[in-house]
Amino acid sequence: MKQFAEWLSTTPPSVFIQDHNAWVIPTIQSIHIAGIGVVLGSAFFIYLRILGWAGTDQTLRETVNRYGPWLTGALWVMLATGILMVIGEPVRELVTFSFWAKMILVAAMAAAAVRFQRADLEGLPSRRLVRSLAILTFLIWVCIIILGRLIAYDHVWGSWSPATKA
Ligand code: HEM
Repeated sequence: MKQFAEWLSTTPPSVFIQDHNAWVIPTIQSIHIAGIGVVLGSAFFIYLRILGWAGTDQTLRETVNRYGPWLTGALWVMLATGILMVIGEPVRELVTFSFWAKMILVAAMAAAAVRFQRADLEGLPSRRLVRSLAILTFLIWVCIIILGRLIAYDHVWGSWSPATKA
């Protein structure tokens, strides 16, 4: 992976981002961070409806139809800005434990979000199970945020971190 990351850092798109690092990365990171707000905000309103704590004047389907597109739309923006940050700083991102752990959780959550939006929400199994899944997936979003921040501090994983071996 390190060799691939070092090769990627010599490609013209990566060199362009590195040469304009003063504004390109901060701009991309700012869009990425704004995207976190939309992802978490839209997921939060769906969770509040599932738990029955807010939005009970609407059906779950109406709530998912209202906030679901924001969630998936923001995930596409996160993917695009994330890929640009990887191209711009490939060794910093790819040669870490945090990045890959985060990508596994993001892939799982994106699949769960799409599956939930397409599900027959009126015929869901026990409310208790759906509520437990809502709380579990919310905690996974929080883990994704922590892992995103830890990419810059990957040494915290000690020998698990490829960055400490590089
Ligand atoms: C969809 C695919 C995603 C990719 C490819 C991606 C990739 C990245 C990359 C490369 C960084 C820069 C790390 C650094 O250099 O410090 C980053 C930062 C971060 N990401 Fe993502 N990310 C994705 C989705 C998400 C999602 C869904 C969340 C949260 C809901 C998230 C939360 C964060 C956070 C909190 C940071 C640290 C920002 C900072 O403090 O500068 N990311 N991400």
